[in-house]
This record gives sequence, C-alpha cells and structure tokens, in this order.
Amino acid sequence: MKKKPIGIFDSGVGGLTVAHAIKQILPGESLIYFGDTAHLPYGDKSAESIRYYSHRITQFLLDHDAKVVLVACNSASASAFDYLKEEFRDKTILIDVIDPVVDYIGTKNFKKIGIIGTKRTISSGTYERKISEKSPESAVVSLTTPLLVPMIEEGFIFDDISNAIIRAYLSNESLGGIEALILGCTHYPIIKNQISKIFNFNVEVIDSARLVSIILRNILEQKNLLNDSGNSRDMFFISDYTPYFGKIAKMFFEGEINLQKADIWS
Ligand code: DGL
Repeated sequence: MKKKPIGIFDSGVGGLTVAHAIKQILPGESLIYFGDTAHLPYGDKSAESIRYYSHRITQFLLDHDAKVVLVACNSASASAFDYLKEEFRDKTILIDVIDPVVDYIGTKNFKKIGIIGTKRTISSGTYERKISEKSPESAVVSLTTPLLVPMIEEGFIFDDISNAIIRAYLSNESLGGIEALILGCTHYPIIKNQISKIFNFNVEVIDSARLVSIILRNILEQKNLLNDSGNSRDMFFISDYTPYFGKIAKMFFEGEINLQKADIWS
C-alpha cells in the first residue's frame, strides 16, 4: 500500500503547481496525475458536468492503484468534492484544495479576506461558506478573474500586459482593505509574486499548493502510508494531447515532464 502512487487530478495542467509542491515536500512519493484537457476549462462548466467528469477521473485513478485522491482543481473542489466524498466514502481518502486553505485562515485573525477564482469557483460560494463556518469574524469578498487563466497559459507573466490585467481586477473597490487574498485557482501561483507586488507586499497572498502538500504529508504519516521504499515513479496523463499542453506543463511543473494521452471518454 505504501508504494502506491498519490492520485491527483485537475481540469488540465494547472494542477501541476500542486504536483510540484508535493514533490518538494514528499520527494519519495510516486504520483499519478490526470489532466482533463478534453474538457477544460472547468471554470466555465456547470457543477453537474464537473461532478460527472470528477467521478470518472477518480475511478481512473483508483483503477491505477492511487492510495489517495487529491482534487487539485479549485473549480472541481468547489463543485464536486462533497459529492465525491459521498460516492467514494469507503474506497479512498479524498483531499481537496479548499479545506487546507480554510483551516489555515482559521489559525489567523484576518478582518477582511479576498478570494479570486474562476466563475465556477466563485459562483459556488464554497470558500465563503466554509470560511464563515470556521472564521465567522472575518469578512469575505470574492471576485471572478477569468482572464487570468488564458493570460498565464499564453505566457503573459511579469510584463506590461499581465500587470495591466491584474491591476484592473485587483483595484476593484470591493477588495479595499483586505488583509489576505486567496488564490482560488491552480494557475495563479505562477503570478503570486506579481500579485503581492501590486499590493506592495502588504497583503498576505495565500495559495493552496504548499498547504495541501503539508496536509497530505500529515495524513500519510498518520495512516502509516508514506513511501519509504526509496523507489518512486511519476506518471502524467491528459485526456487530449497537443504539443501546446506539453509546453505549458513544463511551466507549471517547473521541470521536464512526459505527458501521455489517456482517452477515458470514448
Ligand atoms: N484548474 C482550474 C481551477 O483551479 C482552472 C482552469 C479551468 O478553468 O479549468 O479552477
């Protein structure tokens, strides 16, 4: 059981920011990653569609012996996580990218928190609901920032175009006075420093990748599931392949990566 891989999925290759953080914190673990590039972006899909996709992908990861399944997509965590927990209750350990952030916020005393994310994540209200349960004294404001995903994928990072887009979003009046900003999308860690700079480094910018990896390590430790064999092997699957995904995958994973096509939808 210990040698089995950690299953991770996302709508595409953005979840590789989480896979990268896991490799930093748990270098001995094997990963099996699935990016549903045939259906991305999830941020524009209905909750029903995302639940359907997430169910099939979780089954794919379990069929490949995953010892845990990590939903490394905010849109899927926001819309499908409770459903997956119900469906796979007795079959695996499930982890999302929202609860670790909400738990972290619970240890702080922020008066006002901002959240940015896709249309699906923000319209679900999942972050607000979970934060108000754990930190009822914190005010929460959320904002959809849909241009950021294509902007990052097209490589507009730390330049005039990305600065103008990020500033246009983040100067929204509703975000005035925030003490923390949650990056509610797997792509946004790529522009974390740029966002911090826009706030003159006065706002704590929180992304889930490291927080989730620490929670994962704690769970594996508690359940005596850490891979101590000295052997690890990573596999990366996507449901539709183009060289474009290969190129941007390297940016998100911060290293060479071999993407294989797994056509689970036909
Ligand atoms: N991975 C998605 C998320 O974290 C962003 C990309 C998409 O919309 O599919 O919400």
